[in-house]
Parts: sequence; structure tokens; C-alpha cells
Amino acid sequence: MTLDAVARLILDEAGDLRGRVLVLDDRGGALTQAVVDAPDGAVRAWCDDIRDADALPVGSGLSSPTDPAVRSAELVLARLPTSLGALEDLCQLAAASASPELRFVAGGRVKHMMTSQNDVLRRYFADVRASRGRDKCRVLEASGRLDVTPTWPRSRHLPALDLTVWAHGRVFNTNRLDAGTALLVDALERSLPRASAGSASGAGRALDLGCGSGIVATWLARRGWATTASDVSWAAVDSTRLTAEANDQQVTVVQRDGLGWAAEASLELIVTNPPFHDGAAKDSTPTLDAIADAGRVLRPGGEFWCVFNSHLPYLRTLAESVGPTSIVARDRHYTVTRSVHR
Ligand SMILES: C[S@@+](CC[C@H](N)C(=O)[O-])C[C@H]1O[C@@H](n2cnc3c(N)ncnc32)[C@H](O)[C@@H]1O
Repeated sequence: MTLDAVARLILDEAGDLRGRVLVLDDRGGALTQAVVDAPDGAVRAWCDDIRDADALPVGSGLSSPTDPAVRSAELVLARLPTSLGALEDLCQLAAASASPELRFVAGGRVKHMMTSQNDVLRRYFADVRASRGRDKCRVLEASGRLDVTPTWPRSRHLPALDLTVWAHGRVFNTNRLDAGTALLVDALERSLPRASAGSASGAGRALDLGCGSGIVATWLARRGWATTASDVSWAAVDSTRLTAEANDQQVTVVQRDGLGWAAEASLELIVTNPPFHDGAAKDSTPTLDAIADAGRVLRPGGEFWCVFNSHLPYLRTLAESVGPTSIVARDRHYTVTRSVHR
């Protein structure tokens, strides 16, 4: 595992790695490995994304952010996320440590850093300072943990859907209704039959792929679908669980990557508002991979509903991989498609 410039600066600014170190959201595991390799290094790590968690050095990963190791951390290392909500989640987690000596050292590329990140840190720590820049990277170091009540997860009622939505700070659009999701649910409302126990397969089985706060999954469950919700993010699956509970709906929630885990011909319906970003970078690969796999997972006649930014080139892959595809709704930004598996 090679250390990139951000990880090297984080480690240099952190200095002494003795004591209880917690690494958060370590992409690729190199930062955690460097602490493992340091003399006297004792490290645990927590990653929100299951793909990052799977790449951590063996034995270092925590299975939940509520693990007692978080409370005993003396030094917390992290890469600065671009989303302020994600940073707020990380600060909240770091500030859960009971250690009075706690230091939080987080670094990033200068081009992705904003002064509003310092403001988030100042809500949780009395002292926040920025390092000198090196190799186009910079580190923020925070200490003097403040006694603040956690503000996430928090809920909001969405009158348009009559749903109460819970979300952690890092979840896509937190507890608000995204314009693409609104267009998708509106199209489903008009065209998707209610799942009926009288259908050939009994109650229809549906998946909300990339469930975020669980708006679509909870809506599907309320329409009678036996619903599973999946996401790579722990914060997303925890939010979906809270949203389903708040609306008295049964949703099976799983933290998984893409569709590879789903059994062949196991679903009548897949609904998704898929990602097209990976951190700060635009990346449609996970979505195209999931679309390519959808035909395997759907039963013949099963449907794949998707909303995406209209400029994205998904139509061809949908038609080729799933089946005949029609546009069921479109506005200035988004397109909603329905593909029927042959
Ligand atoms: C655009 S958001 C949509 C969230 C939610 N369905 C909504 O409409 O508000 C996309 C979601 O996909 C999740 N995601 C990203 N990559 C994924 C992958 N490879 N497998 C499953 N979920 C993924 C993200 O964590 C995020 O919650």
C-alpha cells in the first residue's frame, strides 16, 4: 500500500503515533497500515463505505461507529470529505471520544478544501489550526473537544409524500427530498401498479438500490411491496432503518455494493436514483455495472426504474442489459426510465 501526499502530510502533522489511534474513512487502507507499522502503534479504523471497510488491514476495522474503541481514541486521523455533512458526521464521531487529550488531524487536497470546513470543526473543537501547505495538500488539526449534543441523525416531515425522513449528516441530500427522487416517486405513483398478493409471485419483491435516507424504499413498502433497501454507506442504511421505522414500514436493509450479492431472478422490481459521483470525482462505473447486472437479478417481466441526470448515457445500457426501455418522465434536469426485463 502506497501513501499518497495527503496521507503523508496527515502522518507528519500527527507526529507521535503512540496511544490509541482511530482512523476514519481511510480509502484503500494505507493510512491505517502506516499506523499499524509504526512502533507502538495501536490502531482501529472505521469506514462508512463498505468497500473502504473491506480494504482495511486485517483486524483493524470496527463493525460499528458505536464501538467502545471510538470513545477511547486519543488521536483521530481522517481525510477531509468534500461534503460538509460528512465532515460533521466525522467530527461528531471524533468528539464522541472521552479523552481530554483528543486530537483530530484531517487532511485533503487544497483544491477540495473550503473555509467552511474550519467552521464545522470549530463547532466541535475549541482550537482549530491549518498546517502549511505541502504538495498541494493541507491538514486541519483540532483539539479541545467541546461538549456538544450530536445533531445527526435528524428527521424532517416531507408533506409532499407524507413521509418522515431520518438521515445522518453525510447521507445524500440528508433528510430532504431530492428533485430527481421527487420526479421518480411521482412517476412511480402514476404508473407503478400496487404490489398485489394475487400476482403470480405473491407480494412483489422490490429493491431500492442506493437507498440513501430510505425515501423510495419506505414509499415502496407503503405501497405493499416486500422491500429491501441497499447502500454501500453505513450512514445510509442506518438512516433508511430509522426512516422505515418512523413510518411504521417493514424494510429489509442491507449494506452492500451494487447488485452482485442479490440472487438470480429474485426480484420483480428494482428502483434506483443511482450515484454518479465517487467522492469529488464524477464516476458512472458503479451505476453502469449495476445496470449490466440487473437482468440477472430480475425475473422475466420484472421492471427496472431509474432516474438520472439527462446528460448521462444510460439509455443504451438499460435497453441492452435489462430490456425495452421507455422514458416515463422528464424535466429540465432529470429523466426517469422504465425498463422491462425480457
Ligand atoms: C443519488 S443517491 C440516492 C439516494 C436515495 N435513493 C434518494 O433518492 O434520496 C445514491 C446512493 O447510492 C449509494 N451508492 C453509491 N455507490 C453505490 C454502490 N456501488 N452500491 C450501492 N449503493 C451505492 C450512495 O451511498 C447514495 O446513498
